[in-house]
Amino acid sequence: MRVLLLGSGGREHALAWKMAQSSILEKLFIAPGNAGTQQLGENVNLSLTNFKEIKTFVLKNEVNMVVVGPEDPLVNGIADFFEADDELSKVPVIGPNKEAAQLEGSKDFAKQFMKRHNIPTAKYGTFTKDTLSEGYEYLEKMNPPYVLKADGLAAGKGVLILETLKEAKKELKSMLSDAKFGDASSRVVIEQFLDGIELSCFVITDGDAYKKLPEAKDYKRIGEGDKGLNTGGMGAISPVPFANPTFLDKIENQIIIPTVKGLKREGIVYKGFIFFGIINVKNEPYVIEYNCRMGDPETEVVIPRLKSDLLDLFEGVGTQTLSERDVVFDERSTATVMMVSGGYPEKYAKGKQIFGINGVTDSLIFHAGTVADGPAVMTNGGRVLAATSYGKDLKTALKKSYEAIDKIEFEKANFRKDIGFDVL
Ligand code: AMP
Ligand code: GLY
Repeated sequence: MRVLLLGSGGREHALAWKMAQSSILEKLFIAPGNAGTQQLGENVNLSLTNFKEIKTFVLKNEVNMVVVGPEDPLVNGIADFFEADDELSKVPVIGPNKEAAQLEGSKDFAKQFMKRHNIPTAKYGTFTKDTLSEGYEYLEKMNPPYVLKADGLAAGKGVLILETLKEAKKELKSMLSDAKFGDASSRVVIEQFLDGIELSCFVITDGDAYKKLPEAKDYKRIGEGDKGLNTGGMGAISPVPFANPTFLDKIENQIIIPTVKGLKREGIVYKGFIFFGIINVKNEPYVIEYNCRMGDPETEVVIPRLKSDLLDLFEGVGTQTLSERDVVFDERSTATVMMVSGGYPEKYAKGKQIFGINGVTDSLIFHAGTVADGPAVMTNGGRVLAATSYGKDLKTALKKSYEAIDKIEFEKANFRKDIGFDVL
């Protein structure tokens, strides 16, 4: 198989690492990729928003599968573009079409979908500029803290949690009337606050059958003890200790099955990963959000625990024969710790040389924001690399990841020293 993988983060390096082990891979292209993916295939400079350019590349290079890492191309309809094109329609895209990707692309769509299918989630109301005063009234009837969500994609920044009614009203107005998040906040979902502990669950589906992947927990805040600004994710672990078989069964029966069946019943053919952001409230699971892709950094712990051939699963998605494929997991635990550029998630520098990666032998180093400069590897983003390790338990895996990080250096490197602190 000749595969084009879209994206450039740690998630894509982990997917590339896994696909590179497949006996059915002939050639892997990664667009745009990073210094890590370059060692597993050929990085190509394509814009993920320019579908025509992607088409030209696919035809010229006889690519026969496209795997999409991030949500943007999916929400923008890359799967629909391929399906509608005579020359591309035989090339499967691993990732849902535009309609199905609305599960992530529109919070209001996701909430309505969950309501229709009785999937447990926080109570909500959706408001626009024209219904701002109804929005205020809705807030007045709720208890703090107040959760406001921009309906559309807002680069992970569209969720606000506010302590006072006054702030909540001010932010609601700013989102709706002053377009705080541009078009993404032309509709705002106001949601009941749920108090609990979060985890991430994943399935891969061909629109008919689905296969579960291991669950994970990510650490989103920049600071130790889950304090400070939100980031893309500072580390992750798998499995999640509080996700016992009873709780995982509840997730499957109350959330996963109704979602996959609900999509099918509504005539939405979903092909790809579904990411369920779940919160555990007194041992009952609720959906906080859907994503139409794998998580990052969750992929860096989930994919290393997959023993089966990932490309074989992707082939099953493409040909709607996923039910015939085996999914086998590694029983060991995995942990990943992100090294980030000092200052991230605010202002940070790029272009710093990274030393010591080759000295790491007992962990996997997945590159996130890196670029090759001849033989040197330079920082090229906020999240720079993820050190993933296996262990007989989480504690052992984490210890190995911290030992790996000790060997790697770049100017102003930062990382959280307490990944897993709340569950160990
Ligand atoms: P999202 O951008 O949708 O991932 O949401 C960001 C974060 O906001 C989530 O990971 C949760 O920690 C938090 N969050 C979202 N919705 C709720 C809710 N209804 N109750 C409590 N926390 C929430
Ligand atoms: N780690 C959360 C996400 O990928 O959205």
